[in-house]
Amino acid sequence: MRHKISQKKAEIMKKVAEHLGVWGGSGSGKSTFLKEKIAKRKRVICLDPMGDWAFEKGFRSFKTKARMYSYMRENWHKGYKVVLLVDEVKTDPQALLIEVVTDIMYTIQKNYKDSNGAKDYEITLLIDELADFLPNITLKPSQMVLKRLMNKGRHYGVDVFGASQRIADVHLSFRANSTENFFFRQDEDVDRKRILGAIGREHRADLMSLGDHEYLNFKKGVVTKGKNKCNFKRRR
Ligand SMILES: Nc1ncnc2c1ncn2[C@@H]1O[C@H](COP(=O)(O)OP(=O)(O)OP(=O)(O)O)[C@@H](O)[C@H]1O
Ligand SMILES: [Mg+2]
Repeated sequence: MRHKISQKKAEIMKKVAEHLGVWGGSGSGKSTFLKEKIAKRKRVICLDPMGDWAFEKGFRSFKTKARMYSYMRENWHKGYKVVLLVDEVKTDPQALLIEVVTDIMYTIQKNYKDSNGAKDYEITLLIDELADFLPNITLKPSQMVLKRLMNKGRHYGVDVFGASQRIADVHLSFRANSTENFFFRQDEDVDRKRILGAIGREHRADLMSLGDHEYLNFKKGVVTKGKNKCNFKRRR
């Protein structure tokens, strides 16, 4: 009996959560890429210290978690795209990420988890400027909630997309748990070296020749070239 249940659970949960890391210099096209990637997603929660996403089509911005969560509850079935504006002077982005991820795991996605993923309740957590929220510093176990969420992502139905200018500035727990990476134009040699260490030095010429909005995709050990659609007119 137990075997039957776990088999059924495994079938329902066969979807693997997506964890995307998007890296590149200022203006290289990371946010544009993420905007294209989430355009057709039903439920998106965005953490954005720049306030850039508040102007994106389909997004509603909030200054407090409480208001954002109540909007999410009201629009659960229809879907929602919400931005939590992060005032860096008043808010500690690291503490905020821990709070939001904890809320996602224990409250927002509880139904998904309790139904073993049977319901169409997936969400995407989008973290622009990831280095502000998860810097490459020593973390206490209690601060590792994003890692826990990513390790168990498919049980909670949460995809995590993160972007940062410099890969070296972001905590290893994100880099080590990402399923796919997108490398845009890199301005710093230290970042190029780190990336080539991961994807192979034979890709150096391709990495060096990237123009804005062009990237190298690294997934399951395979490198492919790609570029943003940049359909700016349609979006605004
Ligand atoms: N709506 C738009 N219309 C026209 N051009 C745009 C638009 N959005 C972005 N661009 C152009 O694309 C470039 C890259 O933008 P994007 O915001 O994706 O870069 P980024 O990698 O996220 O940069 P940053 O690290 O500074 O956030 C911008 O410098 C701008 O020239
Ligand atoms: Mg950006």
